[in-house]
Amino acid sequence: MEKRELLYSGKAKSVYTTDDPDYMVLEFRNDTSAFDGKKVEQLDRKGMVNNKFNAFIMSQLAAAGIPTHFERQLSDIESLVKRLDMIPLECVVRNIAAGSLCRRLGVEEGIDLLPPTFELFLKNDALGDPMVNEYHARSFGWVEEKDLERMKELTFRVNDVLKQLFLDGGLLLVDYKLEFGLFRGEVVLGDEFSPDGCRLWDKDSREKLDKDRFRQGLGGVVEAYEEVGRRIGVQF
Ligand code: TMP
Ligand code: ASP
Repeated sequence: MEKRELLYSGKAKSVYTTDDPDYMVLEFRNDTSAFDGKKVEQLDRKGMVNNKFNAFIMSQLAAAGIPTHFERQLSDIESLVKRLDMIPLECVVRNIAAGSLCRRLGVEEGIDLLPPTFELFLKNDALGDPMVNEYHARSFGWVEEKDLERMKELTFRVNDVLKQLFLDGGLLLVDYKLEFGLFRGEVVLGDEFSPDGCRLWDKDSREKLDKDRFRQGLGGVVEAYEEVGRRIGVQF
């Protein structure tokens, strides 16, 4: 399917229409951003690495029965996806304390969270993606109750599938962010799953192998993404 016109350009991906109104093309760019777009850099090969990483993960999730927007990879940096009506919320599950949870609650990084936590954030860079609760989500009409329940159910099913997948590669899935949308009235996983939107640590050394390398200026960002990809079977 051919790309037609640019529909939307996000911080790391551009979205194009196709001849079919139900499908779009995602183009993964090298742009890497953090802190709600305040830090932005171009990292060589990152678009290709995230596109292939995402294609692999979305295929694994589909095989586990999770509905996703992913159709197929079109090129090194492009994938064909269903066009969803996006829900403006980010669903975050945490298996181990890190990031904003530690800052907010003053807890030490690395504590196991049993059961894992579920948090919602409003997608709004100008407001710094504030955390919201399920009442906000419903009262402001961002999502219907039944769809929110389905988003939660799918987000935890993704945890079961991916925690094991990464563990088999000697990696801990610390936390991750998912975005959903509606396709013909059904809740479907959208956006991407890549080391840009999750935390992955080496199981033994607890070395950070995700976007925290970029946020914290540790270097070797794309090399770390490739390393985790290789460990779970992604072919670059
Ligand atoms: P946090 O610790 O900054 O709240 O992030 C939790 C996880 O969700 C982490 O893996 C990064 C991811 N995330 C994003 O990718 N984008 C976002 O806008 C937010 C709020 C979180
Ligand atoms: N993806 C968001 C940003 O670009 C949040 C983050 O990863 O820090 O700012």
